[in-house]
Amino acid sequence: MHILIIGSGGREHALAWKAAQSPRLTQLFVAPGNAGTASVAQNVAISADDNAALVAFAREKQIDLVIVGPEVPLANGVSDALRAAGVRVFGPSRAAAQLESSKTFSKAFMARHHIPTARYATFAEFGAARDFLRAADYPVVIKASGLAAGKGVIVPASLAEAEAALDRIMIAREFGAAGDEVVIEERLEGEEVSLIAFTDGITIKPMPPAQDHKRLLDDDRGPNTGGMGAYAPAPICPPALVAELTRAILQPTVDGLRAEGTPFVGALYAGLMLTRDGARVLEFNCRFGDPETQALMPLLDSDLIEIADACTTGRLDKVDVRWKRGAAVCIVIASGGYPGEYESGKEIHGLDAMSDDCVVFHAGTKMVNGKVVTAGGRVLGVSGWETDRETDMKADAIKRAIRKAYAGLGKIEFSGMQYRADIGKRAIVASK
Ligand code: AMP
Ligand code: GLY
Repeated sequence: MHILIIGSGGREHALAWKAAQSPRLTQLFVAPGNAGTASVAQNVAISADDNAALVAFAREKQIDLVIVGPEVPLANGVSDALRAAGVRVFGPSRAAAQLESSKTFSKAFMARHHIPTARYATFAEFGAARDFLRAADYPVVIKASGLAAGKGVIVPASLAEAEAALDRIMIAREFGAAGDEVVIEERLEGEEVSLIAFTDGITIKPMPPAQDHKRLLDDDRGPNTGGMGAYAPAPICPPALVAELTRAILQPTVDGLRAEGTPFVGALYAGLMLTRDGARVLEFNCRFGDPETQALMPLLDSDLIEIADACTTGRLDKVDVRWKRGAAVCIVIASGGYPGEYESGKEIHGLDAMSDDCVVFHAGTKMVNGKVVTAGGRVLGVSGWETDRETDMKADAIKRAIRKAYAGLGKIEFSGMQYRADIGKRAIVASK
């Protein structure tokens, strides 16, 4: 098969790395890719947001299957454009992608289908939103409704901070049109878990539950980031709970979208909080997680291309999706200054020295004069895993995966690099 992956981050490198192991593969392209994807696929200089050029390329190269990584092309209707040209796509239509691209859509959808989530109100007008805040007698979270690269959610510590957040979104319009509407939501408490599933629009096959580390610094301090690391499976979400969450959350979501005439094909990501009163959806994403995917792909035993292809043809029920035992951890290395301003163009050393059970997924990198240099905030993700069948103690597997990932990370060096030293630590505590 001729496969095209759209995107250029660590998630897309992990997907390309796994796809490259498939016996079904003839040719693998990544548009636009990065210095890492170039080692397992052919990079194509087309922006992930250029639907017309992507369609033309897919036709010219007779692409059999496209896998879409990021949310922005999905919200731009890249799946619809490709399908209209007769190309099979693993990734939802623009209509189904509203589950992520519009939080007002997503919240109303959950209410219609009785999917557990925080209580909320939506506003298109600043004055009404402010009056609501002043009257609310419970802690809130404020969210720009549209896509804001994970930055549009503000958890205020006081009424003053809440009003300032509303001002930033609705008056200063820090997130542009994403802030045309806001969702004001009840603030929940609990452990967070990312539950991502393959779906063909009918059948659901969940992946191992993962946990992301969103704050910049150890012990979950510092500003929010795109994600500084992840591990899977998350011991706080054992198999019986995954089954329950699939029944109570993922299945009604997929069934509801199909019933509304907008079936969801692709990776459905439920960002959940496990509260004292049960699991609640914090957000849906319409794609694989980043950096969760960098921890999940090393654990996938089955053929990614076979699964993705079956999703596009309504045959997911016929495919056995197997996962390796054990655990995997991904540690992100970011540029100095990230998530604020940072410099690019720093040469990266030590990339070739990895051992077995450890791989470096590139995110913000590029090749300049034969050298790999930094080209983004999040630069690399070092994934380590322990899938030895003899290692049946869960805490042991995750400890060994952590050790392998940090051993790999220790070989890498570039000026200003920063990373967290405690990725996966929570899993060890939880599995005791
Ligand atoms: P989201 O992008 O909607 O997942 O939100 C980003 C982060 O904000 C989440 O990972 C949570 O840590 C936090 N958050 C979002 N919604 C809530 C909520 N209702 N209660 C508490 N924290 C929340
Ligand atoms: N890891 C969070 C996300 O992919 O949105």
